[in-house]
Amino acid sequence: MTIPVIAIDGPSASGKGTVAALAARALGFHYLDSGAIYRVTAHAAGNRGVDLADEAGLAELARGLELRFDGVEVYLDGQPVGDAIRTEEAGRAASRIAALPALRAALLELQRGFRKAPGLVTDGRDMGSVVFPDATVKVFLTASAEERAQRRYKQLIEKGFDANLAALVQDLRERDARDASRASAPLHQAADAHLLDTTALTIAQAVDRVLGWYRQA
Ligand code: C5P
Repeated sequence: MTIPVIAIDGPSASGKGTVAALAARALGFHYLDSGAIYRVTAHAAGNRGVDLADEAGLAELARGLELRFDGVEVYLDGQPVGDAIRTEEAGRAASRIAALPALRAALLELQRGFRKAPGLVTDGRDMGSVVFPDATVKVFLTASAEERAQRRYKQLIEKGFDANLAALVQDLRERDARDASRASAPLHQAADAHLLDTTALTIAQAVDRVLGWYRQA
């Protein structure tokens, strides 16, 4: 029997991570935040002096990454990375390296390794289109750029970071454009993905939709 996967893709700050984590908890499944892998790779590159444009160097670094997730905490080489990978700057660095095909290829097996019984809920940009093309349920989760900027703003303030709403809207638009226009695994709604626009939905409503699609599948 194949292990079920629920793949939730979508743009930055759409709430896909929150929805994915709650759906995983409801089903007793594992959860993988694939964006954290790109963020932590960029972070590791900074620590080890690998240039963010050095595609081969980044791919090599990615193949040797020692990563472990425990809830929302990510451990790199046994050490918790904490909120250092949650800043806007870390998101931009992740988005830059995510455009490099050799790096994406190097991270494929690492991501697929998280498919473990009884099941996996994962979120990212290409979970349904590239990493788990045979996912049981694929969801493309989105919300308006203004709504997403508001959510990201709240999140950053709650974490004690400085934030500026207008700059966030601008940053989200730029990141979306880069993620959607890159040649390698661009962000797009897969033909077999359910569209979930959460602009006017609560988190609980969004989670219910995902669980409903899973039950139907
Ligand atoms: O989702 P999050 O904002 O943490 O992702 C950070 C960046 O990592 C994204 O802007 C995107 O460029 C990249 N990413 C990706 N593919 C994924 C997950 C994230 O390219 N599956």
